[in-house]
Amino acid sequence: MSKFDNSFTDELRQRLSIVDVVSRRVPLNKKGQNYWGCCPFHNEKTPSFSVSEEKGFYHCFGCSEHGDIISFVMKSENVDFKTAITELADMAGIKVPEIKQKSSEQIEAEQTYVKITEDSAKIYQDLLYSESGKFALDYIKNRGFSDEMIKKYKIGYAPKNNIISSHFVNIKSDKLVATGLVRIGNYGPYDFFRDKLMFPIFNAHNQIVAFSGRSLDGSEPKYINTTDTELFHKRQTIFGFNFARDAIHRQNRTIIVEGQIDAIQMQNHGFPETVAPLGTALTEDHIAIICKANRNITFCFDGDAAGQKAAVRACILVLPFLRDNSDVRFAFVTGGKDPDEVLKTHGESAMREIINKSVPLIDFLWDSANKNYLITTPGGRTQAEKFLKDCTSKIKDKIFQNEIEQDYNNRKFNQWHKWKQKKYTPEIDIPDIDAMTSQILKSVVQTYPELVEKHMDFLTTLNMSFDEDVEKTDLSLADAEKFIASLKLQRYISKLNKEKEDIINDGFKTNKSGEEITELTNQINIKINEAKEKLDMLFDIEDK
Ligand code: UTP
Ligand code: MN
Repeated sequence: MSKFDNSFTDELRQRLSIVDVVSRRVPLNKKGQNYWGCCPFHNEKTPSFSVSEEKGFYHCFGCSEHGDIISFVMKSENVDFKTAITELADMAGIKVPEIKQKSSEQIEAEQTYVKITEDSAKIYQDLLYSESGKFALDYIKNRGFSDEMIKKYKIGYAPKNNIISSHFVNIKSDKLVATGLVRIGNYGPYDFFRDKLMFPIFNAHNQIVAFSGRSLDGSEPKYINTTDTELFHKRQTIFGFNFARDAIHRQNRTIIVEGQIDAIQMQNHGFPETVAPLGTALTEDHIAIICKANRNITFCFDGDAAGQKAAVRACILVLPFLRDNSDVRFAFVTGGKDPDEVLKTHGESAMREIINKSVPLIDFLWDSANKNYLITTPGGRTQAEKFLKDCTSKIKDKIFQNEIEQDYNNRKFNQWHKWKQKKYTPEIDIPDIDAMTSQILKSVVQTYPELVEKHMDFLTTLNMSFDEDVEKTDLSLADAEKFIASLKLQRYISKLNKEKEDIINDGFKTNKSGEEITELTNQINIKINEAKEKLDMLFDIEDK
């Protein structure tokens, strides 16, 4: 019947959730593992039609109809295979490929491809334990990999010379090139991976389809990966998924980390449900594949600004897949650069704490909106509100979407309005901003939104409301900026003065010698004078 090659129907089954497909016609309720509704294929009043998200099948206990997304569309809409496929492709947002049967040549080519990559992995594995692989072996052991781990993940070493291009003498070079392992240069074929620690990449059938190679001599790029081939599509490949699949079902969640070594170390230190994207940022395809397995996801990003940004990106990608019963969370690594480092230096319990402290998606979005916009101004609040609205509009389930918007409305009312009402309570280290200065600052902020963005960190620490309507300022943009700079300097100076005071007071308590105290206060005095000079310079220019 099918003229499509299986990979396309597989992709549809992978991308689309059967619950989504069936729910378009039959209202479903979750009970236990499965979803239940009234069978569309026979007349009934009590639901005996069950849908298994996990297996991708429906089954009616009343009339015994059963099948997958494709047969559901064919039977429920009474359409042929091709129409059903086209409709589902539409729903998944992908294009139906030209109808063509896989030729026997193609099937053979794919088999050869897998044979080459699997044989190559064996060659690399042997080399890791040979003389030439000694450095690589030491390196990976140093990074906490045991022999069992090396064996399980089939980690190997690609030597400095051309091993693959010279090994497969009976295979045509175009077949080797097709695997991405060999390239053709001016002097003939050469190996793509040389002097690299080799991490095989497995497909869903546990076959090796590509590699990621880590440089061992500190040269950049740190990792090179097989470029996309017939059998390997980076945007759709999730590192570690083949090993994590069972654990994801058992633990009822997926943890996503940023790097492949992180994923391996997590899998072997108490978090077997961990995976990572590979050589690219997360894509919609990755999320679709993961959501098919399980809609409870804990993203684990590095604790830096880049991690925050990546988290917002991931959040936006995952929103269309959200269900009212999905539990999507965001964790940020602390106490190390990435999970690998945390596990190595602080152990599993520290990592578990990080995962346990993860923030639910709804709160993460709210926090991002509050952090990224100056919500003490009407303009900032408008931007934050637009951002939240853009996000919630991506949620497909309208009732759920409504719930979340309602929740945000409550937060806006309770938190933003409280913010507005909050009295200006300066922290100790902030110089008192007199009424006049505060007036100028408000008009500067309302006149030049670009300055708000630039000096947001400083402005938020002032803990004052910029809401009140004020006249626009006469200051030019440059002068307005100098004005803010001078405030910053004044604040810095008063902080230094406070530090000096503390040293003198503590000095009496801790029995510091007079000399020590003088030395410390002198250092601070130097800083204070420097800051004052800068401040003078600002005013000098202003006078001209
Ligand atoms: P990182 O730079 O955070 O590396 O990149 P890492 O995973 O901590 O690597 P180690 O611990 O130093 O060995 C995160 C991920 O981005 C991809 C890799 O998949 C890496 O795991 N990446 C990074 C590349 O594909 N190429 C690069 O040059 C760097
Ligand atoms: Mn790392």
